[in-house]
This record gives sequence, structure tokens and C-alpha cells, in this order.
Amino acid sequence: MVKIKIGSENQFDYWNNAVNYWLKYDNEINIKFNNITQVLFYSINLSNAKNILDVGCGSGFTTKIISDVKKKSGNILAMDLSEPMLKLFKKKYKNINNISTIQADAQYYNFKKNSFDLIFSRFGLMFFDNPYLAFKNMYNALKKNGSIAFVCWTDYRYNQFFSIPVKILTDVTGLKKQRVTKSPGPFAFNNINYIYDILKKNNFKNIKIKTIKTKLVAENIKTDLDIFMKIGIAAKMMRENNLDKKKILKVRNKLDNYLEKYIYDNSGFYKAKIFLINAIK
Ligand SMILES: C[S@@+](CC[C@H](N)C(=O)[O-])C[C@H]1O[C@@H](n2cnc3c(N)ncnc32)[C@H](O)[C@@H]1O
Repeated sequence: MVKIKIGSENQFDYWNNAVNYWLKYDNEINIKFNNITQVLFYSINLSNAKNILDVGCGSGFTTKIISDVKKKSGNILAMDLSEPMLKLFKKKYKNINNISTIQADAQYYNFKKNSFDLIFSRFGLMFFDNPYLAFKNMYNALKKNGSIAFVCWTDYRYNQFFSIPVKILTDVTGLKKQRVTKSPGPFAFNNINYIYDILKKNNFKNIKIKTIKTKLVAENIKTDLDIFMKIGIAAKMMRENNLDKKKILKVRNKLDNYLEKYIYDNSGFYKAKIFLINAIK
């Protein structure tokens, strides 16, 4: 493996050693996030952006969208901490002239100063052990008047994709619901004031943080069950509490019944609440 300077060991380990289900359900996850992808891209003006950075690009779905829009008029650097995610990226999108990929921690990567017109991310900026430092690094990498645009989760309680499995898990096992914190993880940016402070202290201008209520597509029950059992906060709670196989099966069965009754009968989607952040250097 390439030796790179990293922040959080835990994050590095997770994104390099525990992403089998991210890889397996890559397509389904991108379908789920469809509305969110649109929210992010509607907020970006791509017309003058030549050098673009996708931070925490994962398997490259968002990078590829920008690549298709820009064609020969822009170059995109896709950066991620995760070797397996980048491997999938390169398998999916081969020989695309305006994309290059790099395995690195955006917090510490030695970017060329003043080089990007746009830095963007779909759910890739909440995993830094020191977000102030990470945003400083990205600020320095932006050209003057360059922009940053990203989406992140609000508290998991406002996102059924996370809250449903947590409810079932805590009902079945008696485990306590976790409170969200600022620790690196999907909900690190659940507080608007915190995000604002990080950007403000790093001299970003025109900071706009919007709360967006939207929907995530529900997949077939088996897929969603698999995802719930392996990805997200409930899966993390199960791992951390070393639940035995019998309990895990009980959670899965209850969740299965719940999904049948509520989500699919009622709607076919999960309610979601995210933040959309746009700012300028
Ligand atoms: C939730 S996934 C989102 C992936 C992709 N943006 C998407 O929307 O499909 C978060 C991604 O951020 C990456 N990541 C986490 N910390 C990072 C860091 N410090 N520098 C670069 N990438 C990071 C992970 O490896 C992972 O691929």
C-alpha cells in the first residue's frame, strides 16, 4: 500500500479495510443519493471551473458527472483515503482523459497552492480528525474567488436511513441510542454553527449553509437490510457492542418486518435532512 500521511488511524482503517458493502452496493447507494447529488450540483456554477477537486470521491460517481459536463474544458482530481474505493473507481471509469485519481488524506496532502477553481464533495468531508486544519489546507489549494461546495448529514435522528435501524436495534437489544458528536464520522458536521466556524476561521467568504429536507430512494428490502446491517450508525453500534449472531439475526428480522410494513407501504423512500454548504475564497 502507498505510504501516505494520514490523520485518523480509525478512519484510514475503516475506509481501507471495512468497505466491502460500500463496494457491493455502490450502484444502489448512488441511486439512493440521487436527490442529494442534484442538490449539490445545482448549487455549483461550473462554467468557469477548469481545475476541480473532488474530495473523498469514493468510487467516483460525482467525479464522473463533472467529467461528463466539462469534457475538454476542465480537469478533475479525484482524491480519496481509500485504496479499495479508488480501485473500484478505476475499474468503473477507465481511461478518462480529464480525470486523475490520487490516494491521499485531504487534510495533509501537499496541494499546489492557489490551484483549484472548485473543490466539492458529496459526504466526503466529515471524517477529518482536525477539520480546521483540513479546511485550511483546502482553502490554500483554492484559487482566489475559487469555491467550495459540499453536502453533509444533519443529526441521524432526522434521517430515516439511519434512525430506523437504530430504533430497531435499540428496541431489540436495550442498547442506548448514541448521541452525535464532532468526532470524525458521518455526523461530525451536524451543527450549523460548527461548520460556519470552521469556514469563517479559515477566511472563507460568502458562506451559505442551507438545511435541505429531501428523500433517499428505498431499494428492495433485501438490499436495504444488507446495507443497514453493515453500513451506518446502527451497524457501527452492533460492531462496537460485539452483538452475538443470535441478536444480530433478531435485529435483522425485526428490521425486515418494519421495512415491509412502514417504508414500502407508505412511501418507498426515507426522509432525509442534510446541509448544503457553499463558500468562496
Ligand atoms: C461516505 S463516502 C462518500 C464517497 C463519495 N463522495 C460518494 O458520495 O459516493 C466518504 C469518502 O470519504 C473518504 N475520506 C474519508 N476521509 C478522508 C480524507 N481525510 N481524505 C480523503 N478522503 C477521505 C472515504 O475514504 C470515503 O470514500
